[in-house]
Amino acid sequence: MSYIDVCREKAAQLKTKEKVNILAIESSCDETAAAVIQNGRVILSNEVFSQIPLHALYGGVVPEIASRAHVDAVDRMVDHALKEAGLTFDEIDAIGVTCGPGLVGALLTGVSCAKGLAFALEKPLIPVNHIEGHICANYLTHAELTPPFLCLVASGGHSHILMVEDYGVYRLLGCTQDDAAGEAFDKAARVLHLPYPGGPLLDKLAQKGDPHALKLPMAHAPGPYDLSFSGLKTAFINAVHKLDQRGETMPPEDLAASFQQAVVDALLSKTMQAALDNHVKCVALAGGVSANSGLRAAFTQACQKARMKLYMPELKLCGDNAAMIGSAAYYRLLHGEIADLDLNAKPALRLV
Ligand code: KG4
Ligand code: ZN
Repeated sequence: MSYIDVCREKAAQLKTKEKVNILAIESSCDETAAAVIQNGRVILSNEVFSQIPLHALYGGVVPEIASRAHVDAVDRMVDHALKEAGLTFDEIDAIGVTCGPGLVGALLTGVSCAKGLAFALEKPLIPVNHIEGHICANYLTHAELTPPFLCLVASGGHSHILMVEDYGVYRLLGCTQDDAAGEAFDKAARVLHLPYPGGPLLDKLAQKGDPHALKLPMAHAPGPYDLSFSGLKTAFINAVHKLDQRGETMPPEDLAASFQQAVVDALLSKTMQAALDNHVKCVALAGGVSANSGLRAAFTQACQKARMKLYMPELKLCGDNAAMIGSAAYYRLLHGEIADLDLNAKPALRLV
């Protein structure tokens, strides 16, 4: 029997197995990560190697450096994840891996490692969309969460508002027309001379600032739930430069707080409108930007007022990690969605 036929049989048997352990690998950008997840919900291990110090010198991710660092780290992370979970390869039922979207060289490292393991161990190989992984981070934090719910995914590369109709079934309501929210945070942080990635540092500064100090425009986007951050980002950069040229100063805390407030206002108003129009009872946040303190506070308040239940991943699961990939992989496995060994990296993979 061929590899894929063996794995189809194994995948079918796993649908009724009481405990399914998935080894997951994530390498789409600048984190090399491996995790072991049981039944899509329980984290047995979650190892993340951050490459940030390697890229900070250049003010952003350098794809070639990222690929090489992934090659260096991926085997080690897999070993750590197994050891931390207290399992051997024999006790792993399937291998999940991020196959896109992301940097092609970075993705290829994880995909190649996963393919090698899957072939050598004769275990099903499950390709996972990175954005779906971010959404599934919520399943790891909230045991009671099940679809349907509305989700705002805001990360460094993506900003989507979508309905999670069922596991693996999504309906796109709106998305950014230009920059992602995280990208805008990072660019705004750069003019405040914060090192890469500036989002978390801008958040810290903003906590001590006046969000009304600098007036910024509200972005216009075509659809009712679409987003746009490019204009806001440019307006902010121009405002900071103008202050500089006039020799005026505004505390960086106030600048950071004003920018953050503008981004949060846009994300909150579009998401809550989508939630109201779609009569949803549950709203979830996902992606790196869901770690933002202003965003979490604003959604907590708004959802309370609207009597909607709010779900947010715990902070350590907001950024890139392999635990979320292991959760997503489990639900794909239940649908029999496994890949053959011709699986390739898909840098521009879409969720919907
Ligand atoms: O989801 P993620 O880890 O990677 C991508 O899939 O893109 O998101 C990373 C992005 C970066 O732009 C980072 O600056 C931003 O999320 N981010 C934040 C915060 N923490 C991470 N932005 C604002 N406030 C934060 N606390
Ligand atoms: Zn991500």
